[in-house]
Amino acid sequence: HSLWLIVPAAGQGKRMGADKPKQYLPLGEKPILAHTLSRLHRAFPTAHLVLCLDSDDRWFKPEWVPFPQWQRVAGGAERMDSVLNALHAIKAQDNDMVMVHDVARPCITSSDLLALYDAAQQHPSGALLAMPVADTMKRANAEQLSAVTEPRDRLWHALTPQAFRYALLRRALEYAVANHCVVTDEASAVEALGQAPKLVSGRRDNLKITHPDDLALATAIMASQVA
Ligand code: C5P
Repeated sequence: HSLWLIVPAAGQGKRMGADKPKQYLPLGEKPILAHTLSRLHRAFPTAHLVLCLDSDDRWFKPEWVPFPQWQRVAGGAERMDSVLNALHAIKAQDNDMVMVHDVARPCITSSDLLALYDAAQQHPSGALLAMPVADTMKRANAEQLSAVTEPRDRLWHALTPQAFRYALLRRALEYAVANHCVVTDEASAVEALGQAPKLVSGRRDNLKITHPDDLALATAIMASQVA
């Protein structure tokens, strides 16, 4: 079956406080978006890329796309709307694999990508990269007082990529939209259908660039990975 890579890149990245969306900020000699696409291409050179971009995007350059087969789709109001636009735009078979990866995670490695792909092939409910929680977790009350300590033994950080069969992911996201479910990743939409995707333990350095400090961190991570 075919592999479709969906990269939502239609966010504003407001927490960065920069003059352009964070995916266009430079890491070394190229923008974050170009690094992310190049890492995906290294692992899956024959996949079909679907890039979700804001219709008003003035920064994107097609020269940053290394995939021979790719298409651009319009982003939506929320991340899930962008991903759903991509699913509606592609001519996929129900059993095709769809992998969704945040443009803001350029430190993704081939070994994590391939491990996730394998797990998603084996699990009918799909799979996501994730990381067991290491810190003690507190639930705050309305006054920001530490009200409860959550047992952390089964808590994980959800990362991306996340991968599912096309028909399942499309049904899950359509269900989430129709029922106004709050979903911040693909797995939460699949869970809303009563299914449980496999958690695949991923590298701790799969950073999501969110705050200005993260740029230096990502540069250091990428240098350490290439070495
Ligand atoms: O803002 P945050 O880092 O959580 O965004 C996660 C990913 O979703 C980013 O890659 C961002 O560009 C994308 N996104 C999108 N469409 C939106 C909002 C976010 O494609 N409407």
